[in-house]
Amino acid sequence: MPASASPAPVTVVGLGDMGTALARAFLTAGHPVTVWNRSAAKADPLVAEGAVRAASPAAAVEASPLVVACVLDYPALREALGSAESRLDGRTLVNLTNGTPEEAQETGAWARGLGAAYIDGGIMAVPAMIGTPDAAVLYSGDASAFGRHEAALRVLGPASFLGPADGTAALNDIALLTGMYGLLGGFVHAAALIRSEGAADGSEGGSVTEFTENRLLPWLTAMTGILPALARQVDSGDFRTEGSGLAMQLRAYENFLSASRARGVRTDLIAPFHALMERALSAGAGPSDDVSALVDTLRDGRG
Ligand SMILES: NC(=O)c1ccc[n+]([C@@H]2O[C@H](COP(=O)([O-])OP(=O)(O)OC[C@H]3O[C@@H](n4cnc5c(N)ncnc54)[C@H](OP(=O)(O)O)[C@@H]3O)[C@@H](O)[C@H]2O)c1
Repeated sequence: MPASASPAPVTVVGLGDMGTALARAFLTAGHPVTVWNRSAAKADPLVAEGAVRAASPAAAVEASPLVVACVLDYPALREALGSAESRLDGRTLVNLTNGTPEEAQETGAWARGLGAAYIDGGIMAVPAMIGTPDAAVLYSGDASAFGRHEAALRVLGPASFLGPADGTAALNDIALLTGMYGLLGGFVHAAALIRSEGAADGSEGGSVTEFTENRLLPWLTAMTGILPALARQVDSGDFRTEGSGLAMQLRAYENFLSASRARGVRTDLIAPFHALMERALSAGAGPSDDVSALVDTLRDGRG
């Protein structure tokens, strides 16, 4: 068997829910795994499964050419690796801690200043998905280091390398999560409306489960189909709608606000979208433009 076929040693720094799942996936794939966590006891189950517990962050970094870190946030990362700085030279640091693009850039500069190759990553998965085809992981940073370690990184889930800028993976991660929270915010408001039904006369309110399974889920699933067309409008700058102009949408949206208020449902989640539509129209968006026009309004703050 060629030497390159043997799974390479990997160090995992940070053994919270996610770091533990990462280390376990490397172990399952046959990699020699060294682990370090601030609270040492969290390593016990992994040690029982074959991992080596490092006595210090420096010993952990020294153990492998590939160091995967996943702690709470970037300040925690710097705290965890602070005493290991002198050992990072010549290693590849893959940082899967959630953070901002700016933090990724700063951390990349810090790691390279110490002689390490740096790859930043965003995990689009929960711990139970790690090691399955559903666990997408986004990477950016040092392309040649990614190429060297790609086989190991693919153990965690499908890996996408998005480019050489350290902040690209974090920006995509955040954009995906803000998209998700838009969806979750919509669910929360819709559920509050359904629960408000009949509440004035003391009755229980509508069933959110029945509403979600029978109507909300099919509706939202169908509506995701319009996103590629909206995206093309954003990219081209031609926002003309394929059927739902902003002027019509604004008028209907007023009904969302008044029906919510009439039922004592706060409009905190949905009112900003209404204000943004008004701002876009007063700043020059056409009545026959679609909501794609709001992207520019949001970006440049005009009006
Ligand atoms: N869990 C998820 O569903 C998920 C999904 C995608 C991305 N992520 C990201 O993955 C990262 C880790 O998440 P998690 O779920 O593993 O969180 P977690 O279970 O709360 O674990 C946090 C980890 O950070 C360590 N830590 C915190 N402060 C530290 C410090 N000052 N110095 C050294 N270590 C420190 C903790 O060490 P101790 O054990 O000693 O406290 C622990 O290992 C986060 O950035 C999170 O946003 C998580």
